[in-house]
Amino acid sequence: MLKKLVAANWKMYKVQIDVSDFFGKWNRLETPKEEIAFFPQDPLIPLAKSLLRPGEKVGGQNCSERKEGAFTGDTSPYLLKNVGCEYVLIGHSERRHVFGEKNEVMGPKLKNAMEAGLRPVYCVGEKLEEREAGKTIEVVFAQLEALNGLSATGYDIAYEPVWAIGTGKVAKPEDASLVHGKIKEWLEEKGLGEDARVLYGGSVKPDNATELLSSSGIDGLLVGGASLDPESFHKIATAV
Ligand code: 13P
Repeated sequence: MLKKLVAANWKMYKVQIDVSDFFGKWNRLETPKEEIAFFPQDPLIPLAKSLLRPGEKVGGQNCSERKEGAFTGDTSPYLLKNVGCEYVLIGHSERRHVFGEKNEVMGPKLKNAMEAGLRPVYCVGEKLEEREAGKTIEVVFAQLEALNGLSATGYDIAYEPVWAIGTGKVAKPEDASLVHGKIKEWLEEKGLGEDARVLYGGSVKPDNATELLSSSGIDGLLVGGASLDPESFHKIATAV
Protein backbone atom coordinates (compact mmCIF):
# COMPACT_ATOMS: atom_id res chain seq x y z
CA MET A 1 0.00 0.00 0.00
CA LEU A 2 1.52 3.30 -1.12
CA LYS A 3 1.46 6.33 1.16
CA LYS A 4 -1.13 9.02 0.51
CA LEU A 5 0.08 11.50 -2.10
CA VAL A 6 -0.33 15.22 -1.50
CA ALA A 7 0.58 17.08 -4.67
CA ALA A 8 1.05 20.77 -5.47
CA ASN A 9 -0.05 21.82 -8.95
CA TRP A 10 1.49 25.26 -9.39
CA LYS A 11 -0.15 25.74 -12.79
CA MET A 12 1.19 28.82 -14.66
CA TYR A 13 2.40 30.56 -11.51
CA LYS A 14 5.85 31.26 -10.05
CA VAL A 15 9.21 32.33 -11.49
CA GLN A 16 12.65 31.18 -10.27
CA ILE A 17 12.87 33.49 -7.26
CA ASP A 18 9.45 32.33 -6.06
CA VAL A 19 10.55 28.69 -6.20
CA SER A 20 13.72 29.47 -4.21
CA ASP A 21 11.63 31.42 -1.67
CA PHE A 22 9.06 28.62 -1.43
CA PHE A 23 11.64 25.94 -0.66
CA GLY A 24 13.58 28.26 1.66
CA LYS A 25 10.44 28.32 3.82
CA TRP A 26 9.13 24.80 3.07
CA ASN A 27 12.41 23.14 4.03
CA ARG A 28 12.28 24.71 7.48
CA LEU A 29 8.88 23.08 8.13
CA GLU A 30 8.62 19.53 9.41
CA THR A 31 8.77 16.84 6.68
CA PRO A 32 5.19 15.56 6.18
CA LYS A 33 4.64 11.84 6.54
CA GLU A 34 2.57 11.68 3.36
CA GLU A 35 4.31 11.50 -0.02
CA ILE A 36 4.78 15.00 -1.47
CA ALA A 37 5.09 15.97 -5.14
CA PHE A 38 5.40 19.38 -6.80
CA PHE A 39 4.26 20.18 -10.33
CA PRO A 40 5.90 23.44 -11.46
CA GLN A 41 6.02 24.85 -14.98
CA ASP A 42 8.54 22.90 -17.06
CA PRO A 43 11.50 25.36 -17.00
CA LEU A 44 11.30 25.47 -13.18
CA ILE A 45 11.56 21.70 -12.76
CA PRO A 46 15.39 21.45 -12.47
CA LEU A 47 15.46 24.27 -9.89
CA ALA A 48 12.64 22.71 -7.86
CA LYS A 49 14.30 19.31 -8.11
CA SER A 50 17.58 20.74 -6.78
CA LEU A 51 15.79 22.12 -3.70
CA LEU A 52 13.71 19.06 -2.75
CA ARG A 53 14.26 17.12 0.44
CA PRO A 54 14.86 13.36 0.22
CA GLY A 55 11.65 11.56 -0.68
CA GLU A 56 9.92 14.60 -2.17
CA LYS A 57 9.17 14.37 -5.89
CA VAL A 58 8.68 16.59 -8.88
CA GLY A 59 6.47 16.15 -11.94
CA GLY A 60 5.38 17.78 -15.18
CA GLN A 61 1.92 19.33 -15.68
CA ASN A 62 1.41 17.71 -19.09
CA CYS A 63 3.35 15.83 -21.75
CA SER A 64 3.27 14.87 -25.39
CA GLU A 65 1.90 11.60 -26.68
CA ARG A 66 5.03 11.47 -28.86
CA LYS A 67 8.61 10.58 -28.00
CA GLU A 68 10.47 13.24 -30.01
CA GLY A 69 10.37 15.05 -33.33
CA ALA A 70 9.29 18.25 -35.03
CA PHE A 71 6.50 19.11 -32.57
CA THR A 72 7.15 22.72 -31.61
CA GLY A 73 5.88 23.69 -28.20
CA ASP A 74 5.28 20.17 -26.91
CA THR A 75 7.25 18.46 -24.11
CA SER A 76 8.36 14.87 -24.30
CA PRO A 77 7.86 12.72 -21.20
CA TYR A 78 11.39 11.41 -21.89
CA LEU A 79 12.69 14.95 -21.26
CA LEU A 80 10.61 15.22 -18.07
CA LYS A 81 12.19 11.98 -16.88
CA ASN A 82 15.62 13.20 -17.96
CA VAL A 83 15.35 16.36 -15.82
CA GLY A 84 14.33 14.41 -12.75
CA CYS A 85 10.55 14.03 -12.83
CA GLU A 86 8.87 10.97 -11.39
CA TYR A 87 5.30 12.06 -12.11
CA VAL A 88 3.30 13.77 -14.83
CA LEU A 89 -0.29 15.05 -14.80
CA ILE A 90 -2.32 13.85 -17.77
CA GLY A 91 -5.75 15.14 -18.71
CA HIS A 92 -5.97 17.99 -16.22
CA SER A 93 -9.31 19.74 -16.68
CA GLU A 94 -7.55 22.89 -17.91
CA ARG A 95 -5.88 20.84 -20.66
CA ARG A 96 -9.24 19.33 -21.57
CA HIS A 97 -11.45 22.40 -21.33
CA VAL A 98 -9.17 25.41 -21.94
CA PHE A 99 -6.91 23.79 -24.54
CA GLY A 100 -9.46 21.38 -25.99
CA GLU A 101 -7.48 18.18 -25.52
CA LYS A 102 -9.75 15.30 -26.44
CA ASN A 103 -10.14 12.14 -24.41
CA GLU A 104 -8.79 10.16 -27.39
CA VAL A 105 -5.32 11.64 -26.87
CA MET A 106 -5.19 10.63 -23.21
CA GLY A 107 -4.52 6.91 -23.77
CA PRO A 108 -1.48 7.59 -26.03
CA LYS A 109 -0.20 10.21 -23.57
CA LEU A 110 -0.54 7.82 -20.64
CA LYS A 111 1.21 5.04 -22.55
CA ASN A 112 4.05 7.31 -23.69
CA ALA A 113 4.54 8.71 -20.18
CA MET A 114 4.72 5.24 -18.70
CA GLU A 115 7.13 4.03 -21.37
CA ALA A 116 9.31 7.03 -20.49
CA GLY A 117 9.40 5.78 -16.90
CA LEU A 118 7.02 8.33 -15.37
CA ARG A 119 4.09 7.61 -13.08
CA PRO A 120 1.09 9.48 -14.54
CA VAL A 121 -1.57 11.08 -12.38
CA TYR A 122 -4.56 10.80 -14.68
CA CYS A 123 -7.14 13.54 -14.04
CA VAL A 124 -10.86 13.05 -14.52
CA GLY A 125 -13.93 15.01 -13.50
CA GLU A 126 -17.30 16.28 -14.58
CA LYS A 127 -18.49 19.79 -15.45
CA LEU A 128 -21.25 21.47 -13.45
CA GLU A 129 -23.92 20.86 -16.08
CA GLU A 130 -22.94 17.20 -16.24
CA ARG A 131 -23.23 16.87 -12.47
CA GLU A 132 -26.61 18.63 -12.50
CA ALA A 133 -27.79 16.26 -15.23
CA GLY A 134 -26.83 13.30 -13.01
CA LYS A 135 -24.05 12.27 -15.40
CA THR A 136 -21.03 12.42 -13.07
CA ILE A 137 -20.29 8.70 -13.08
CA GLU A 138 -20.99 8.31 -16.78
CA VAL A 139 -18.57 11.15 -17.63
CA VAL A 140 -15.85 9.91 -15.28
CA PHE A 141 -16.15 6.33 -16.56
CA ALA A 142 -15.88 7.57 -20.18
CA GLN A 143 -12.67 9.43 -19.25
CA LEU A 144 -11.32 6.34 -17.48
CA GLU A 145 -11.60 4.39 -20.75
CA ALA A 146 -8.25 5.98 -21.68
CA LEU A 147 -6.62 3.59 -19.19
CA ASN A 148 -7.62 0.52 -21.20
CA GLY A 149 -4.58 -1.29 -22.52
CA LEU A 150 -2.23 0.01 -19.82
CA SER A 151 -0.48 -2.30 -17.39
CA ALA A 152 -2.18 -3.05 -14.08
CA THR A 153 0.11 -0.82 -12.03
CA GLY A 154 2.15 2.38 -12.28
CA TYR A 155 -0.31 5.28 -12.28
CA ASP A 156 -2.63 7.24 -10.02
CA ILE A 157 -5.96 8.94 -10.65
CA ALA A 158 -7.09 12.41 -9.59
CA TYR A 159 -10.81 13.09 -9.36
CA GLU A 160 -11.20 16.82 -9.88
CA PRO A 161 -14.76 17.98 -10.45
CA VAL A 162 -14.40 20.88 -12.89
CA TRP A 163 -16.91 23.03 -10.97
CA ALA A 164 -14.73 22.77 -7.85
CA ILE A 165 -11.47 23.89 -9.45
CA GLY A 166 -10.43 27.39 -8.46
CA THR A 167 -14.00 28.27 -7.47
CA GLY A 168 -13.88 27.82 -3.68
CA LYS A 169 -16.69 25.24 -4.07
CA VAL A 170 -15.32 22.03 -2.67
CA ALA A 171 -17.08 18.70 -3.21
CA LYS A 172 -18.70 17.38 -0.03
CA PRO A 173 -16.37 14.65 1.31
CA GLU A 174 -19.23 12.10 1.07
CA ASP A 175 -19.85 13.02 -2.60
CA ALA A 176 -16.14 12.75 -3.40
CA SER A 177 -15.96 9.41 -1.52
CA LEU A 178 -18.83 8.08 -3.59
CA VAL A 179 -17.11 8.94 -6.88
CA HIS A 180 -13.77 7.59 -5.60
CA GLY A 181 -15.50 4.34 -4.68
CA LYS A 182 -17.00 4.06 -8.17
CA ILE A 183 -13.60 4.76 -9.76
CA LYS A 184 -12.07 1.97 -7.67
CA GLU A 185 -14.86 -0.43 -8.62
CA TRP A 186 -14.30 0.41 -12.30
CA LEU A 187 -10.55 -0.21 -11.98
CA GLU A 188 -11.07 -3.49 -10.18
CA GLU A 189 -13.54 -4.74 -12.76
CA LYS A 190 -11.06 -4.00 -15.55
CA GLY A 191 -8.01 -5.39 -13.70
CA LEU A 192 -6.41 -1.96 -13.85
CA GLY A 193 -4.89 0.43 -11.31
CA GLU A 194 -3.96 -2.26 -8.79
CA ASP A 195 -1.68 0.19 -6.97
CA ALA A 196 -3.54 3.35 -8.05
CA ARG A 197 -4.26 6.01 -5.48
CA VAL A 198 -7.34 8.11 -6.13
CA LEU A 199 -6.63 11.75 -5.23
CA TYR A 200 -9.23 14.47 -4.80
CA GLY A 201 -8.66 17.94 -6.26
CA GLY A 202 -10.75 21.12 -6.38
CA SER A 203 -10.60 23.98 -3.85
CA VAL A 204 -8.65 22.00 -1.27
CA LYS A 205 -7.69 24.37 1.55
CA PRO A 206 -6.12 23.97 5.01
CA ASP A 207 -9.60 24.07 6.58
CA ASN A 208 -11.12 21.24 4.52
CA ALA A 209 -8.06 19.01 4.02
CA THR A 210 -8.43 16.96 7.22
CA GLU A 211 -11.99 15.94 6.44
CA LEU A 212 -11.21 15.15 2.81
CA LEU A 213 -8.03 13.20 3.55
CA SER A 214 -9.73 11.12 6.20
CA SER A 215 -12.77 10.27 4.05
CA SER A 216 -13.13 6.79 2.69
CA GLY A 217 -11.49 6.17 -0.68
CA ILE A 218 -9.55 9.46 -0.73
CA ASP A 219 -5.89 8.49 -1.08
CA GLY A 220 -4.42 11.94 -1.48
CA LEU A 221 -5.00 15.50 -2.67
CA LEU A 222 -4.10 17.50 -5.76
CA VAL A 223 -3.91 21.11 -4.64
CA GLY A 224 -3.88 24.20 -6.85
CA GLY A 225 -4.14 27.71 -5.35
CA ALA A 226 -3.52 26.69 -1.74
CA SER A 227 -0.24 24.97 -2.70
CA LEU A 228 1.44 28.19 -3.80
CA ASP A 229 2.17 29.26 -0.25
CA PRO A 230 4.47 26.97 1.79
CA GLU A 231 2.62 27.36 5.10
CA SER A 232 -0.77 26.76 3.57
CA PHE A 233 0.45 23.70 1.60
CA HIS A 234 2.19 22.37 4.71
CA LYS A 235 -1.05 22.58 6.71
CA ILE A 236 -2.75 20.55 3.98
CA ALA A 237 0.11 18.03 3.72
CA THR A 238 0.05 17.43 7.47
CA ALA A 239 -3.74 17.56 7.88
CA VAL A 240 -4.03 13.96 9.10
P1 13P B 1 -7.61 24.64 -6.92
O1 13P B 1 -7.06 23.91 -5.71
O2 13P B 1 -7.00 26.00 -7.11
O3 13P B 1 -9.09 24.60 -6.96
O4 13P B 1 -7.09 23.80 -8.20
C1 13P B 1 -7.30 22.44 -8.22
C2 13P B 1 -6.52 21.86 -9.34
O5 13P B 1 -6.82 22.12 -10.51
C3 13P B 1 -5.37 21.01 -9.02
O6 13P B 1 -4.90 20.34 -10.14
